[in-house]
Amino acid sequence: MSHTEHQAAQAKLENAAPAPPLTLVIFGAHGDLTKRLLMPALYNLADMHLLDAGMKIIGVDHSDGDSREWADGLTATMQSFTHDRTAEFHPDRIDDEAWGWVTQRLEYLKGDFADESTFRGIGGKLGDGNCIFYLAVAARFFAPVVEQLGRAGLLKQQPNAFRRVVIEKPFGQDLPSAQALNARILKVADEQQVYRIDHFMGKETVQNIFPLRFSNAVFEPVWRREYIDHVQIMAAETIGVELRGSFYEGTGALRDMVPNHLFTLLAMIAMEAPGAYTSDAVRGEKAKVIAAIKPVQHDDVVRGQYGAGTVQGQSAKAYRDEPDVAKDSSTETYVALKLEIDNWRWAGVPFYLRTGKHLAARRTEIAVHFRAAPVSLLPDRDGGTMAANVLRITLDPEQHTTLDMNVKTPGMNAQLSRADMTFRYEDSFPMPSRVGYEVLLYAVMNGDTVLFQRADQIEAAWAAVQPALDHPPAVEIYAAGSAGPAGADALLARDGRRWDPL
Ligand code: BG6
Repeated sequence: MSHTEHQAAQAKLENAAPAPPLTLVIFGAHGDLTKRLLMPALYNLADMHLLDAGMKIIGVDHSDGDSREWADGLTATMQSFTHDRTAEFHPDRIDDEAWGWVTQRLEYLKGDFADESTFRGIGGKLGDGNCIFYLAVAARFFAPVVEQLGRAGLLKQQPNAFRRVVIEKPFGQDLPSAQALNARILKVADEQQVYRIDHFMGKETVQNIFPLRFSNAVFEPVWRREYIDHVQIMAAETIGVELRGSFYEGTGALRDMVPNHLFTLLAMIAMEAPGAYTSDAVRGEKAKVIAAIKPVQHDDVVRGQYGAGTVQGQSAKAYRDEPDVAKDSSTETYVALKLEIDNWRWAGVPFYLRTGKHLAARRTEIAVHFRAAPVSLLPDRDGGTMAANVLRITLDPEQHTTLDMNVKTPGMNAQLSRADMTFRYEDSFPMPSRVGYEVLLYAVMNGDTVLFQRADQIEAAWAAVQPALDHPPAVEIYAAGSAGPAGADALLARDGRRWDPL
C-alpha cells in the first residue's frame, strides 16, 4: 500500500475527531523519550489529521538553544529512524507535510525545572487556554515540577480550559515513596487531571484484551478457577541494560517492570467486567484486582543477574562489567514471581510472572493455561499425554492471539496433534508504524483517563511486591543468552509446572 492509501485506510478505520486546541508543554525537550516516542507520536497524529491547527508545542529543558536548533535536532533524529530497524519507530520515509506541521509549532524554552522563573516564563506563553504538561523527565523531578506548576497557578482549570499533567514511570521506588508522590501531586492537582502513563497500555494487543474477554461470549464463562490451571506472564528481552546502568543499578528488573508493566497485563487478564466502559468503572475494577493480589511470599521470588554469555550469536559481557554498574552489584536483571489473587474468580490459580534482560529471545506474552479436558479418548500421536488448551496473547515481537488446540492428525488413525487458531493483527487491519504513544497522547488531549493508572492502582501494585523489596532473595547469576536462572525453573517445578519456552 502507498503512504496515501495507508492513511486513507487508517482514517476510515479510526473514525476519530481531531483533538481540541491546546498547548503541549514537554519538560525534557532534549530527552530520549521526547525524541524516540513523543515526536513520532505527534508526527503520526498530525499525519492522521487528528491535531488541531492551533496547537502549540513548547519544549523546556536545561540546556541552551533556540526553537530552530531544537527542531533541526529532532528532524535529524526522525530521519535517522528510517534507516534504524531497531528503533521503535521505523517508517520507510518521513512525510514532509506531516513532520513540517509539527516542526512549525515547536518552540524551545530554556529553563531550570527547579527555578520559579521557568514556570513564570511558561505561564507567560500559555494564556488561558487548554494545556497539557508532559513530564518526560527523570523521576526525581516529578513532584517538584508539579508543585511548581501548582505554585505558578498553571494547574487551575477554567470551565473552558483544561490543565492536565502526564507523568511517566517509574512512579515511586516502593510503596511509601509512591504514596508520598501521589500525596504531593494530589495536593495541587485533582486525580482527573493526572495521567500516569504505562506505555504497555498503548499497545494494541494489550487494549485488545478488553474486547477479547468482554465482547466475545466464548471466553468469559471459562475465564475462572474452574477452567484455568494457571497464567504465565513474561517479558523477555534480548537487550542488556545498555547505557542505563546508573538508572538500573538503583532500580532492577522488579521495580522496572513488575508493578507497572506486568501488573498492567495481569489487571487486564484478571479484572472483573466493569458495568460500563468508563474510566471510573474500568479503573475501579483494575484497582480492585490488583488490591486482591496477596503480598508476595519470600519463597515465591527468584532474582537473577546476567553473567557473560552469548545473546543471539553476539558475545555479551556480564552485568557487573557494564558501564556505571558496581563490580559487586546485587541488582537483579531478571525476576520471576508466583502470585496469588485472593478472590472468588482466581483463588488457587497461580500467576507466574517473569521478566529479564539478555535472555535467549525477545518475547512479551501472556499465556492462559486451561485445565486439560477431563477424559482423554484419543491417543496423542507422539505418545505423550493429551495437552491442555493455551490462549497466548503475544505483544512482542509479533502481535497475535493464538489458541493452542488438540486436533485430529490427518490419516487413518484417530490420533491427536497440536495446532493453533490465530488472530494476527496485520492480517485483518493495516498496521502502520506506530509507537503506541499516539493513542495515549490522543486520549490525554480528549480527557480520557481510561488507559492511565489511578493512584490507588499504583499503590496496590507496590503493596503486592513490597515484601520482595524489603527482603530480596540473593541474586543468582544466569548466562546472558540463556532462559534465566535455574531457580526460576525450580519455582514452577515445585508446583509440577514448567515455563513456556521463550
Ligand atoms: C521500560 C523499561 O519501561 O520498558 C525498560 O524501563 C524495558 O527496561 C521496556 O526495556 C520494555 O518495553 P517494550 O515496550 O520494549 O517491551
